[in-house]
Amino acid sequence: MKIGILISGRGSNMTAIVEAVKNGLIPDSEVVAVISDKKSAEGVQKAKERGVETVVITRNGRTREDHDALIIAELKKRNVELVCLAGYMRLLSCDFVRAFPNRILNIHPSLLPSFKGLDAQRQAIEYGVKVSGCTVHLVDEDLDHGAIVAQKVVEVKDDDTTETLSARILEYEHALYVEAVRRIVEGNYEIVGRRVVFN
Ligand code: GRF
Repeated sequence: MKIGILISGRGSNMTAIVEAVKNGLIPDSEVVAVISDKKSAEGVQKAKERGVETVVITRNGRTREDHDALIIAELKKRNVELVCLAGYMRLLSCDFVRAFPNRILNIHPSLLPSFKGLDAQRQAIEYGVKVSGCTVHLVDEDLDHGAIVAQKVVEVKDDDTTETLSARILEYEHALYVEAVRRIVEGNYEIVGRRVVFN
């Protein structure tokens, strides 16, 4: 399966997916492009070092729709069948979601539907939850809302700061995202209402 990955920053989840494709953990697949909306994203260099083609498309004052149209074109040109958002910091337009129906995944550093949006780990600390975690979900038109593909529970320790909790969750994100992509690529699932059911 041809995979495209969108990033805005560090790119550690992107790197985990690229490595998993390379070593066959995600079988019969190829990461055909890593697209960043930020020129300075660390992940761009990491993708290049791993021999993956990179494209930078900055917002540059464009509307969301116009910016997304450029990204959709780059993905379609390469026949991308699965889009993975990996720390991509922009909301997708409806056009984008419709261009890849049920074929866009995102990872979010909380147990959705808790703590949507920015700074999920800080929200978890401030709320005082004892467990948080990470979620891989299909992307729909609403923020951090689409059907859940996989979740991992991560303990919140009494002395955690946003930084220590973020680091602990991140360790689990990579494995969770790789496993979720593997299962979606394998294709042995149905979407029943909001539920992604694996057979
Ligand atoms: C991760 O915490 C991910 O859950 C969130 O953004 C962060 C991206 O980190 N959506 P990285 O760029 O993959 O290292």
